[in-house]
Amino acid sequence: MSTREGALRIGVAGLGTVGGGLLKLLAARGARGGERPLEVVAVSARNRSRKRDVDISRYAWADDPVQLAADPNIDIFVELIGGSDGPAKRAVEVALQRGAHVVTANKALLAEHGADLARLSEKTGGQIAFEAAVGGGMPIVKAIKESLAGCDVGAIAGVLNGTCNYLLTEMEASGRSFADVLADAQRLGYAEADPTMDVGGFDAGHKIALLAAIGFGAAPDFQAVEVEGVENVTLTDIRLAGKLGYRIKLVAKAERRDGRVDVSVAPRLLAFDHPLARIDGPLNAAVVDADPVGRLTFVGRGAGEGPTASAVAADLIDLALGVRRPVFGRPIDTLSSFEPIDRAHEHGRYYLRLLVKDRPGVIAAVSDRLGRAGVSIESILQQPTPGADAVPIVLTTQSCARTALDSAVAEIGALDAMTEPPRVMRVEDKGSWV
Ligand code: HSE
Repeated sequence: MSTREGALRIGVAGLGTVGGGLLKLLAARGARGGERPLEVVAVSARNRSRKRDVDISRYAWADDPVQLAADPNIDIFVELIGGSDGPAKRAVEVALQRGAHVVTANKALLAEHGADLARLSEKTGGQIAFEAAVGGGMPIVKAIKESLAGCDVGAIAGVLNGTCNYLLTEMEASGRSFADVLADAQRLGYAEADPTMDVGGFDAGHKIALLAAIGFGAAPDFQAVEVEGVENVTLTDIRLAGKLGYRIKLVAKAERRDGRVDVSVAPRLLAFDHPLARIDGPLNAAVVDADPVGRLTFVGRGAGEGPTASAVAADLIDLALGVRRPVFGRPIDTLSSFEPIDRAHEHGRYYLRLLVKDRPGVIAAVSDRLGRAGVSIESILQQPTPGADAVPIVLTTQSCARTALDSAVAEIGALDAMTEPPRVMRVEDKGSWV
């Protein structure tokens, strides 16, 4: 292959939405600002002959991404395959082992194996850049890793999965069930055929594990992230939460408390004036609290061809400019380990959804169990459902110990009038997340 004099030679593995978008972006705009020109010289994907709206005939082809990563003609290996293990991991390791740089959008790989890969990167000098792994086109990785390097990050909260946010927004707008909206989203290509990574909260979990790592100076540890998805959020939850003044969002959150970290993904009720409550559709957003800068808010397109390709291109330009940084902002041996908080001592406000047989005394029995556990009700709403065998009752609590709520909920769940297990979600007011 012939390349321009002094060019940084790029191999792109994975030609889906982002890979195709990257080829188009680089062909249209070139590499701006780099000291050395950037030139895609080879590509790899599962299927060479698949119909694409980008011409790949000008690039050398590799059937196997690991073979592409091993090619000494490639200076930067762009990994857009995805998946925490398998070919993506092997290819990234092979590229790093020979000192090549890696640009990746693979949050699962870095959240689960980031510490080992960072160690390898430091050993060989091969850089790893991953702006596209979190927030797509929303520039949050470099903002935290570089622009906030002089601050102490105390908390990060984000809406980091566009698929879930689209599903919740669409349920609210159309009044359709989760299953209906998901089926439509899959038909339109907005949701994956296997939506588990997105709707199960894992994608957002990988992303917040990475933001927590760069924000708190800790090695990423996905195992320490408590993950809950949106599969059990019902239209009733969305409607009744709305009547109580809240919107439901899948919130990824990382907080530092008492020298430990609390990292989780879960659907939460956000007060209408909470900074994340109005982030709708496939958008992503993140709110970062850092001392002494204060609170910063980022909003942008978290997925899609152009936005995510632009994040990959920015990392390529950094490499062309000679930017060299530790993967997670600090040398691997200076990163602390994640010390997860003991969640048994969690305090907060909670939402409780019950589906009960409609008969006298049920609300009295529920409030009795809560009262005896020391949990005070803030508001309560029963949805009249004429003719139905069971009716929803939802309530929010005042601030209470999670253990107290859990013991009351166990007793409530055992009441004869319950027709399904009670459901609990955290409630967040405008300022309560820090
Ligand atoms: N599937 C993700 C989302 C984008 O729905 O936001 C890539 O992480």
